[in-house]
Amino acid sequence: MENFEGKVVVVNGGTSGIGAETVKQFAARGARVHFTGRREEKGREVEKEADGYAHFHQVDNTDPDQISSFFEKLLKEESQIDVLFNNSGVLSIGSGPLARVKEEDWHTLIATNQTSVFLYMKHTLQAMQKQKSGAIINNAAILGNDKVNPMLPAYSGTKAAIVAMTKSTALRFARQGIRVNCISPGPTKTALSIKAYGSEEALEKSSKESPRGYYAHPEEIANTVRFLASDAASYIIGTELVVDGGYSLK
Ligand SMILES: NC(=O)c1ccc[n+]([C@@H]2O[C@H](COP(=O)([O-])OP(=O)(O)OC[C@H]3O[C@@H](n4cnc5c(N)ncnc54)[C@H](OP(=O)(O)O)[C@@H]3O)[C@@H](O)[C@H]2O)c1
Repeated sequence: MENFEGKVVVVNGGTSGIGAETVKQFAARGARVHFTGRREEKGREVEKEADGYAHFHQVDNTDPDQISSFFEKLLKEESQIDVLFNNSGVLSIGSGPLARVKEEDWHTLIATNQTSVFLYMKHTLQAMQKQKSGAIINNAAILGNDKVNPMLPAYSGTKAAIVAMTKSTALRFARQGIRVNCISPGPTKTALSIKAYGSEEALEKSSKESPRGYYAHPEEIANTVRFLASDAASYIIGTELVVDGGYSLK
């Protein structure tokens, strides 16, 4: 089991699903984990469930000032940031054929899925540049690239942008000891996907047709984030790592 003792990890969107599982995995391996989200009750639950240091910060990513205040407070408490997992995302807002997507939903989706990734990277890179080390992992999706969906033009757009931002930033910081990568999960059993499928039963039924016969557990996605954050991934830069159990091959 890798050791993240003494490392400071930030998880953007850690109150449920993939983010919550990632918080718990890093905390259980000795990291000091700071995670964000809007729902205080869920945040406190994750803090309690974590077997290690996990600190919830209430932040609404649609408000850049809240993101700035979070980093200001964080960097008074911690002298470094070793790992950033940029995970916050919504899917159902702004879904439907492009001509019917409301402008206000478009802006909410861009702010949550894309601008927050930009802002968390920007703040984190200031710390990482001073340290000359760090790993950033952004959460994209196969829906952004490998398996676009005609009913999710806005969501797919934000996820494709994350892959491009990842590659560009990775190239810029490759010689500064900072590795930037992204993951593209396929369907994963979380509140987000259950809502998208309409019900847990509908998701389970659909998952039976996938190559693995089930959709990913959030733990399996968190395992990949941990790998990319670890020294075992020291030569991996600017990669989009697809974690979909073969879903996009079909
Ligand atoms: N599940 C899948 O099938 C799948 C597949 C590919 C990629 N992904 C990506 O994985 C990421 C995590 O999704 P999930 O499936 O784990 O769903 P989830 O359980 O709904 O988690 C979404 C996370 O994003 C946070 N978030 C959403 N809006 C926010 C806002 N305005 N400010 C701060 N935090 C916000 C949520 O926190 P609060 O609600 O507390 O604010 C929550 O912690 C997303 O980026 C999603 O696109 C998921």
